[in-house]
Amino acid sequence: MAIDERLGLSGLAYPVPAHANGIGYILGGISFFGFVILATTGIWLAQFYHATPEAARGSVLYIERAAPLGDWVRGVHFWTANIVMATVLLHLGRVFATGSYKRPREVNWLIGLGLLAVTLGLVFTGTVLKWDQEGFEALGHNVEVGGLLGAFGFWFSADFTASLPILGRLYIAHIVILPGLGALLLIAHFLLVKVHGISALPAEADAAAAGGPAPARGGSTFMVHLVRMLGFGFLIGAVSLVLTLIWAPPLGPAPVPGEEVTKPPWMFLPIYPFEDWFGLGALLWVPAILFGGLALLPFVDRSPFRSMRRRRFVIAIGAVVAIGLIGMGILAAVSATQSHLVEGM
Ligand code: HEM
Repeated sequence: MAIDERLGLSGLAYPVPAHANGIGYILGGISFFGFVILATTGIWLAQFYHATPEAARGSVLYIERAAPLGDWVRGVHFWTANIVMATVLLHLGRVFATGSYKRPREVNWLIGLGLLAVTLGLVFTGTVLKWDQEGFEALGHNVEVGGLLGAFGFWFSADFTASLPILGRLYIAHIVILPGLGALLLIAHFLLVKVHGISALPAEADAAAAGGPAPARGGSTFMVHLVRMLGFGFLIGAVSLVLTLIWAPPLGPAPVPGEEVTKPPWMFLPIYPFEDWFGLGALLWVPAILFGGLALLPFVDRSPFRSMRRRRFVIAIGAVVAIGLIGMGILAAVSATQSHLVEGM
């Protein structure tokens, strides 16, 4: 076919196992299409957003009230970001539950952790950009963490350069540095998924590890998988649009320096009680313990078995940590707001 001769699309019809099309194994692909929606809507928002402390919040109001399709595009960007955060965490949970971080996928697990950090960084910087009370307090935490990092925290400090307010640098992080890093990590992530193939179902992998038959590699094709991912991508877009119409993304009052009256977005809430109990240092050591523990996982849990009943200890620890974090998040949501910032920005 003439088109195929030029674009080589039939090369996408290589075999993948049928279970790759199940919802658990498609969460990474859904996250990817979510990022495509975020990039597209983000480019539109960038036409109207103004990254200076004086004009930032006003330009968000302009997007809401005057820019063509501005309120819809902002809403879809906001809701898709929340959905992607959830699908990335669920994807991590699936990879954990099915033991897919084990040999030979240890490096791809680490690359995945890098992608998780980038995703959190994008949500964080995005929150600051709207420059309302919540965004301003988030920036306050950013600056405090910079202080805790000592000489290594220079980039997070408002004093790094006198020529550009820190908001401008966080904007560059949001639209250039983090998306660029994310794109590089995604390319490596996808290449390794292609090299290793999607992991076999745990029961089949365990049978093979015990000397049984090797798991079948076919059953579906990547083209079918891709179309399914695309379908879910459109679904995310549609759900985000409906959510926008029901519940427009928030824009709080103009910031008042020295006040601390908001709580962070839901993905950061589990750290909030630790900040209440142990102070701002918790912003460093809680994520360090969580990311460190996740990074060590494939090198500690080295048995060839992947089904849950043969990994009871690891599954139990994972469940305790996940339930603990959800519990902390709920506790933070229902407890009174507290002041943590030292300098009060
Ligand atoms: C931006 C976020 C991410 C995207 C877009 C993404 C995308 C993908 C895609 C498309 C796959 C193919 C299979 C699937 O969808 O389940 C995959 C597999 C994988 N991902 Fe991710 N991923 C992301 C984050 C993560 C995170 C946070 C981790 C874990 C720390 C991770 C670890 C893995 C591993 C180990 C595989 C191979 C799984 C297997 O073969 O069963 N990824 N990823």
